[in-house]
Amino acid sequence: MSKHPERINLTPDLSISRLVCGLWQVADIEKNGATVDPEQGADALQAYAEAGFDSFDMADHYGSAEIITGHLLKRYTAGEKRPVAFTKWCPEPGPMTRDVVRRGVEERLIRLGVEKVDLLQFHWWTFEHPAWLDALHEMQAMKEQGLIGALGLTNFDAAHLNLALSDGIEIASNQVSFSLVDRRAAGDLSALCLSRGVKLLAYGTLCGGFLSEKWLGQPEPVSIPDWSRSKYKRFIDTAGGWAVYQGILRAASAIARKHSVSISNVASRWVLEHPAVAATIIGARLGENEHRDDNLKVFSFKLDGDDRALLDGAFAKAKPIPGDCGDEYRKPPFLTASGDLSHHLDAIPSVYKAVPVPGRQDRFRVSSGSIWEPLAGYSRAVRVGDRILVSGTTATHGSNRCVAPGDPGAQATYILDKIAASISALGGKMEDVVRTRIYLKDVSQWEPVSRAHGRFFSEILPANTLIEAGALVGNYEVEIEAEAVV
Ligand SMILES: NC(=O)c1ccc[n+]([C@@H]2O[C@H](COP(=O)([O-])OP(=O)(O)OC[C@H]3O[C@@H](n4cnc5c(N)ncnc54)[C@H](OP(=O)(O)O)[C@@H]3O)[C@@H](O)[C@H]2O)c1
Repeated sequence: MSKHPERINLTPDLSISRLVCGLWQVADIEKNGATVDPEQGADALQAYAEAGFDSFDMADHYGSAEIITGHLLKRYTAGEKRPVAFTKWCPEPGPMTRDVVRRGVEERLIRLGVEKVDLLQFHWWTFEHPAWLDALHEMQAMKEQGLIGALGLTNFDAAHLNLALSDGIEIASNQVSFSLVDRRAAGDLSALCLSRGVKLLAYGTLCGGFLSEKWLGQPEPVSIPDWSRSKYKRFIDTAGGWAVYQGILRAASAIARKHSVSISNVASRWVLEHPAVAATIIGARLGENEHRDDNLKVFSFKLDGDDRALLDGAFAKAKPIPGDCGDEYRKPPFLTASGDLSHHLDAIPSVYKAVPVPGRQDRFRVSSGSIWEPLAGYSRAVRVGDRILVSGTTATHGSNRCVAPGDPGAQATYILDKIAASISALGGKMEDVVRTRIYLKDVSQWEPVSRAHGRFFSEILPANTLIEAGALVGNYEVEIEAEAVV
């Protein structure tokens, strides 16, 4: 058996372990106020690094994880091969000016004590707020200046990853939940990653430890003290509940016995064998437990057709986790973290401001700030009583920039986010939409646009018309208008 985990190149000059050591658990260990001693924490990380588990995953909100890793990195002299540090920046939605972005990234550099973040991953709470593209463009500029080694995303669905790529951002990786229980990442996201050269980093692969012998045949727990397991218990409930999960565990256990490995090895192996996946991130409770020897066995076997058929049989009894990757952070029932979104954010701010129409008690309007609205004299959307009318909307970012030129599907995604933001500023929801009209420059491009429309409306099913427009102003491929009744 190999003594060290396999490695993979995330980018041509960034080699990582295929088993990344995840440090969210530091925040859980510290949740009552006591912090991990950074030198002792660094000792624990050094033991991982020396065993070949030398790639660490953190975030701005993982307690003192970045500081502990900074203490580890200081132990290596310049020019010496040092461990790899991934971190994340998860800002609150709001304007992503150059200063805001630079401050966010510089804080990561300072906490880690490095001149360049090896991999900086970006999380965004609501795509209704379009400033995520500003943040990514600024981070790309910082990458070009050598402050960021590789740029990654976390919890992005396929449509928004595609939008980022088509808007010119070079994305190395997308970190998402991917496990025997949550198989969403095997769908559209994997297909997109393979076609556009983006690698997946999988977390939640062991469902916080639920995918292990420890839980095989055990009764359903009444209370769960740690954040990670309480999050994945919600995934288990959503996938059909304890009995369905035990069915998946039993299938994994039979496969594990056949290959003389553990259930956790089977769970990790299944994820790692997906061609879009570069690595799985396995959470570590520093100073409490470590499973390195067992996790190394992931590289001692391969799943065969019978193993896959057994797992597929167990999956057939489960419900798919709804939506696409990352929806757990953005949409009810908010399956993530310690309860719901409110643990991270007080509220999602409205992107546009509703303004009363002078002299008309039942009328409000919003502007999206494009130069065309005052020039031609119209609002992005108007509310009249319980009706909301959204103007023909193009993928205009800020005052005048066309987003994702040449990609009608990506433009449609951007437009529908903008329509959602306009409707919510006026007190409505996408569920209130009763009519949409799509104007398409080249009707042969109907499919990506229709699929984008379907992602928003497949359960709402408004009346719809699709019109070939022949030509649209500028680089716009598509324009969409909508009407809602609140
Ligand atoms: N981007 C995001 O939004 C996001 C979200 C969540 C997590 N993450 C990242 O992913 C990492 C993984 O964390 P996670 O919460 O998803 O947990 P996880 O990796 O699914 O589970 C980790 C737990 O599994 C148990 N374990 C590990 N190896 C084992 C083995 N061989 N046999 C039996 N049990 C084993 C350990 O539990 P015990 O310690 O109890 O033994 C460990 O604490 C995080 O630290 C973080 O870096 C990212």
